[in-house]
Amino acid sequence: MKLFVDAEKCQGHTLCAMTAPQLFELSPIDGHSTATMETVPAELEALAREAAGTCPEQAIVVED
Ligand code: F3S
Repeated sequence: MKLFVDAEKCQGHTLCAMTAPQLFELSPIDGHSTATMETVPAELEALAREAAGTCPEQAIVVED
């Protein structure tokens, strides 16, 4: 699974990083999120989907 954050959509709500801190890191400057890894291992896929569902901006993209 591929994972990334759409920088145009992210507004820094932080829910992704609270749900899955191992998958997202927040910028200390603007609080916007980036994925810590581009390819998600199988054991973290469910968590990645859950985190994507928490984002009010639908900024998180997961692709199988
Ligand atoms: Fe951004 Fe959504 Fe996370 S707005 S900080 S990707 S919850």
